[in-house]
Amino acid sequence: MDVEVFTLFPQWFDWYRGQRHVTNALGLGHTLECVDPRATTTLSGGAVDDTPFGGGAGMVLRVDVVEAALRARYEADPVELRARRRVIALTPAGRLLDDALAEELAAEPALTLLCGRYEGFDERIVEHFASDQVSIGRYVLAGGELPAMVLCDAVIRKLPGALGHAESAQEESFSAALEGAPEYPHYTRPAEWRGWGVPEVLLSGHHERVRAWRREQSRARAAAERPEREA
Ligand SMILES: C[S@@+](CC[C@H](N)C(=O)[O-])C[C@H]1O[C@@H](n2cnc3c(N)ncnc32)[C@H](O)[C@@H]1O
Repeated sequence: MDVEVFTLFPQWFDWYRGQRHVTNALGLGHTLECVDPRATTTLSGGAVDDTPFGGGAGMVLRVDVVEAALRARYEADPVELRARRRVIALTPAGRLLDDALAEELAAEPALTLLCGRYEGFDERIVEHFASDQVSIGRYVLAGGELPAMVLCDAVIRKLPGALGHAESAQEESFSAALEGAPEYPHYTRPAEWRGWGVPEVLLSGHHERVRAWRREQSRARAAAERPEREA
């Protein structure tokens, strides 16, 4: 998978790119590159934003600047790009990122992520260049860099070979393997700590009973969550 992140702060990704599962994925031939729209802006002083029409606080990322960056990178009209690859604008009000969306995106050969800053995108960027809008939660961060990293992380750990143990990414909270339910609890040594024990079944060595217990715990957690979600 090729992931390209359009960001005014490419250095934010230096740390992320060095994380073990990411280096594993890169070692397998996947790519994660950043493109800085300041490098291709035609505005003086490297400007990329402007004041909003109609007034109000903050600055808005310009459509011509984002178009220039996309054109330079893909040598194509950005309007046509979204037919070739998913172009995802990170927006607080977009489609909420969940395991199903991460799974869907992990099957794509290429992703383009657009990070907003300041007041956000000129709406024409979202309308004409993006195939998707994705939100990592109903709250507002200063920019799209952390949301882009969250999205990358949810996707990259699903790529075969990215994690040390392939099974780690299969039976996880919200996965199809657990019917979309939260994961069951885990315990490790010591088996007793301050009088807090470990469920007997996990020490039994009986794989079938352990599997059944875990499934039951996972379903119980889903059932306990349901009334909360429906409230
Ligand atoms: C300060 S925010 C802009 C918020 C915008 N004025 C609003 O009220 O929706 C700047 C940028 O951060 C990113 N961002 C902030 N919160 C986000 C979230 N929860 N999910 C995805 N992206 C987010 C978006 O790219 C956004 O354009």
